[in-house]
Order: sequence, then structure tokens, then C-alpha cells
Amino acid sequence: MLALSPISALAQEMAAIFATEGREDADLTGVELTTGLWPEGLFHVPMALEAAMRACLATSGHPCAAAIEAAIPITPWGTNPVADRMLDKEAAMIAVATLLDPEGPMISPRFRAGLLFQRPGTYYRLHNHDAVETYAIVAGSADWIAGDDRRIRRAGDVIHHPSRMPHAFRAGREGFVAIWRWSGDINSHSYTFLPDPEAD
Ligand SMILES: [Fe+2]
Repeated sequence: MLALSPISALAQEMAAIFATEGREDADLTGVELTTGLWPEGLFHVPMALEAAMRACLATSGHPCAAAIEAAIPITPWGTNPVADRMLDKEAAMIAVATLLDPEGPMISPRFRAGLLFQRPGTYYRLHNHDAVETYAIVAGSADWIAGDDRRIRRAGDVIHHPSRMPHAFRAGREGFVAIWRWSGDINSHSYTFLPDPEAD
């Protein structure tokens, strides 16, 4: 039997988490992740936050954290679809890997999904967008604002943001690693930073 590729194994872990949402688009995103074609020839590009991200992943017993770590050599970290919307200091506090997207690497006309790491102690200020969004924390923790709901989120927690709900995250002392997905209207032009008194 062929061994599962690290991306296939990661896709299965992500789909299992999205399946817990009980939302049709979450299930369909899982189907696309686990059946989509992963292009050959993608290799990891050195990224500034890798050591901190590995340290954060190492604190977690979540199976998806192990799958993310195993897939690092072929994960396209640095593919942030909204990087053009950020200040340099914001772009420097997070690393994003897009796995499923209309532009690939796995092609989906309707959904986006991927990974995110945010550096310890940094604050990613209030923003919103048209897309419906779900995050699932797989390592570390964050003080998480989602509309009127603010609390510490840890590995195993799943957070849902309906379209246009303002959200912001202050990473804990190990930072956090999360998987994310977008559905509904997945345009990136509506991604907007909002007035935020907590912004550094
Ligand atoms: Fe978001």
C-alpha cells in the first residue's frame, strides 16, 4: 500500500475538523481538500517564522498539529491571498499557507482553505470580510474577539465568523497555529481593517 502523502494526511485532518461544524459548506470544503489534486513540484520556501511555528506546534498533542509539521517540506507557506491589504508589521506577524483556492495550489471555484501561524504576543487588529469563515486552533492559544464574543481559544477550539463579523486575535505566549476556511462570497476585495482601540 502506498503511504499517504503528507498533504493528503493533512487534508484528512482538516476535513475531520471541518466536519464537526455541521455546515454543508464545511463538509464540501473537506471533500474538495481530500479529493483535490495537489500539484507536483511545490516545495517549502524558507520562511522567517518557521522556528517559532515549529516550537508552537511542538506544544500541541492535536493530530492536526502533527500533520501540519509533517507537511512543512511541501507546504507553500507565504501564500497569503490578502497580503496586499496589510501593513508590513502585520504581514510580519503572521504566516499563511493557502492549500485550496480558485488560484490553487488545489483548485476550488467556491472555497478557500489553509493554515495560519501568528507570532507570540502579537495583535492582529479588527477586520472583516464578505466571506463566511471558520478557524480551528490546533496549537497554542489566542485572546479571540469574534463580534461580541471574546475569550481565550486553545487547541481544539473551533470559531465561526459569519459574513462581515468583525474579528481580531491576540496571540498567547506560544503564538497559535490554526486551520481556516472561507465559503459564501469568497472575494478578497472586501477584506477591510476596522477602527480598533486595542491596535498597537
Ligand atoms: Fe477573517
